[in-house]
Amino acid sequence: TSSAAPDIVLRPGTSASSADRRREALAGAAFGEVFTDHMVTARWTATDGWHDAALEPFAPLELSPAAVGLHYGQSVFEGFKAYHRTPERAAIFRPSAHARRFADSARRMALPEVPVDLFVGAAEALVRQDKDWIPDGDDRSLYLRPVLFASEAHLALRPARACLFVLLAFPTGNFFDAGDRAVTVAVADEYVRAAPGGTGAAKCGGNYASTYLAQETAARKGADQVVWLDAVERRWVEELGGMNLFFVYGTGDQTTLTTPPLTGTILPGVTRDTLLTLAGGLGLQVTEAPITVSRWREECAAGRITEVFACGTAARITSVGRVLSADGPWTVGDGRPGPVAGRLSAALAAVHRGEAADSYGWCHLV
Ligand code: COI
Repeated sequence: TSSAAPDIVLRPGTSASSADRRREALAGAAFGEVFTDHMVTARWTATDGWHDAALEPFAPLELSPAAVGLHYGQSVFEGFKAYHRTPERAAIFRPSAHARRFADSARRMALPEVPVDLFVGAAEALVRQDKDWIPDGDDRSLYLRPVLFASEAHLALRPARACLFVLLAFPTGNFFDAGDRAVTVAVADEYVRAAPGGTGAAKCGGNYASTYLAQETAARKGADQVVWLDAVERRWVEELGGMNLFFVYGTGDQTTLTTPPLTGTILPGVTRDTLLTLAGGLGLQVTEAPITVSRWREECAAGRITEVFACGTAARITSVGRVLSADGPWTVGDGRPGPVAGRLSAALAAVHRGEAADSYGWCHLV
């Protein structure tokens, strides 16, 4: 049945492996450009459920040009990371949380849920196999990218009866080539990312493709990312498309951390959830509250918002220094990464690297 997880078998073959490729990737290739030597694949059919799970050499897939996923976007993905602990050990961060979100996304897109055991087992198998690809060092990790899509060849408008799950991995450092500078964001004034009742809370491919055009326009204005607003009133701040946003009010022991609530149009970020939990331990007040763009500007002008940062698995914690909008630009704080983002980054990195107690059981050791 579809809820039983098949065993993952090792399927031998020739991988494109070369020490040169690995060296290039470990030296800092661009995000998602040089993949490790292996991948995990598993198939699902309506008749047989999940089957044929295998760890095999990274190689092109054989796919019908009529595969539903290509035409109608029936496709979801995830992103999570494994951190180097010792040459023999790694910590996969919150794989079950990502497995649950993957299942939620799948349900929204009428795809079969990948059993949590298969999802986590695939990550364990791939991380073990390609452990030499896990970068060692500050802020570096092995990025794990599962994708699930409709592979059945049919073009009628109905959910596919055959799907493919693939797990890839690649070494990664900083998502932005920004180094440690604060990024500039541009408020979307033409397009919207997600509407009530739509797919905004699902990690489906289309949510990302539909943002490229706005991203390109923003980049031409000198911005790194787009700030998406709600689709109805076009004034409530939602997220950055690939990252959630946090607002820091005040300083010292009066510091409050706020992020927009999950109303169905925002991706429920695992890093967002992690930071909401960690912040309490650092003595910060934490709230989930909506904020408008004009309020964001006013509170910055009044010095009440002292920092803003984005967070996500890929981007980790990235400070926002400047905001571009149709009504003109403004600066957040002094335009540079702030101390609260710094403290949260350090706290998060300490958990990833095993230097702080894993009080919530987030690190899955392999
Ligand atoms: C992540 O943060 O891992 C994401 O999936 C966002 C984006 C890079 C696709």
